[in-house]
Amino acid sequence: MRNGKRRGGQPVGRGRIPWPCIAAAGAFPLAVLAAGTEAQQPTPTFSRDVAPILQASCQECHRPEDIGPMSLLTYEEARPWTALIRDRVERRVMPPWHINRTMGIQEFANDISLTDAEIATIIAWVDGGAPEGDPADLPPPVERPDPDKWALEDEMGPPDLVVRSTPYTVVANGQDQWWTPAIPFGGLEAETWIRAAEFKPAFPLGKKVVHHGHATLSLEEGDGGRGTNVALARYGVGKSWEIFPESTGVRIPAGPGEVHFNLHYFPIGEEVDDDVVEVGLWFYPEGEAPELASVGEQRFLIDGTSATGPRARDLIIPPHGTLTLEGTHVLDRPAVIHSFRPHMHMRGTGMTLEVLFPDGRRELLSHVDKYDHNWQISYQYAEHVKPVLPAGTVLLLHSLFDNTANNPINPDPDQWVGFGARGVDEMSHAWIGITYLDQDEYDRLIATRGLALPETAGG
Ligand code: HEC
Repeated sequence: MRNGKRRGGQPVGRGRIPWPCIAAAGAFPLAVLAAGTEAQQPTPTFSRDVAPILQASCQECHRPEDIGPMSLLTYEEARPWTALIRDRVERRVMPPWHINRTMGIQEFANDISLTDAEIATIIAWVDGGAPEGDPADLPPPVERPDPDKWALEDEMGPPDLVVRSTPYTVVANGQDQWWTPAIPFGGLEAETWIRAAEFKPAFPLGKKVVHHGHATLSLEEGDGGRGTNVALARYGVGKSWEIFPESTGVRIPAGPGEVHFNLHYFPIGEEVDDDVVEVGLWFYPEGEAPELASVGEQRFLIDGTSATGPRARDLIIPPHGTLTLEGTHVLDRPAVIHSFRPHMHMRGTGMTLEVLFPDGRRELLSHVDKYDHNWQISYQYAEHVKPVLPAGTVLLLHSLFDNTANNPINPDPDQWVGFGARGVDEMSHAWIGITYLDQDEYDRLIATRGLALPETAGG
């Protein structure tokens, strides 16, 4: 079951009975229903049934110049792609939302997946010959915000502070590229708290070449005279912004420093000149400190997590082989988890996040079972199901790799694959949005929440 999807007010396709030709395989009651009344539902048409789904769930990326490889605005544009659309939609790899739908927490703040009814409509449309129908049935075209604008601007206004990387030219053809400029940062006059952050590659070409990136602020002095690092924003295709929950923020101490960009580019067949990415920050009002200090997304390693050995000595995948790695992390303080974003490369196919409580209970929080390196999706838990974990909880992470020919994006199953920063090498960690709590904050959250974990999580 899916939950809580809202797009433009009205969930699309809700309450529509699945088309009988699809339902018949698994759902006899529907077949019986249909037999007694009308012989068959009419075949869905593009204009009446499919266009609203594409508008709500596909065109944000599948429009001219955006990141989708083809535009799906009109019938003429969609028609040549019907077989592929059917396949991607049926396997639930499009829209990109690759989390297992039966295991673990199922309520998210940013779920963009289709409903079962929407999928059934698209399949019935393609199987019925993909008719256009009556263009008079088309929904009015959607007004889309300028793609070069901040995604958060409508909701939050313009950012309070913008930092920019220095220009980098991405060659037309080649392997992965990295760009790590350090930008002088004059410093904020007083301690400031981040309410929201957005990482914005340039439109249209920057969006296609920036695979992922980080912007970190290194302060010269920071707290107690020590240097301090503050994660400003982290980006991956499929994850560009973050609004912290009420009364939660990331603290920036006053004083000067440098913003360090770590940008991972991938060439796209045409040269991209002087690319610049921007990071926008929205602050809590001056003098207003939120109750909880988040660290934003924190990296939890899975490859080679021992503190003593070199990183990733356990990450070696034979030709035509598979590998499972486990990473364990003990929380030394209570914490609330906001989000889960697996990171692996082209051989990565799945990742699970489980928790082992101090009393021995073990619960699966999330299982991303269709991981695809093209996407760095942050699965953001809905507010009321965010796991609240006591000190001593163990985070158990498993990553799965497939170096066989079954993996559709495997560039070469004949290679041994080891650790490395290129997409053809491997790597394995999770970015977990986390806020550490003191005992009082934990007790208060548990008292209002009642449970350390929502009932939907695990068994
Ligand atoms: C967040 C952006 C985004 C959304 C939303 C999205 N797509 Fe895509 N789509 C892409 C990108 C990028 C690719 C190419 C990379 C990949 O296949 O993952 C792609 C690939 C595809 C392909 C395969 C094309 C090929 O040549 O292999 C199909 C078909 C497709 N999308 C259909 C859809 C449909 C139908 C929807 C809506 C139900 C949708 N997409 C929603 C970005 C998106």
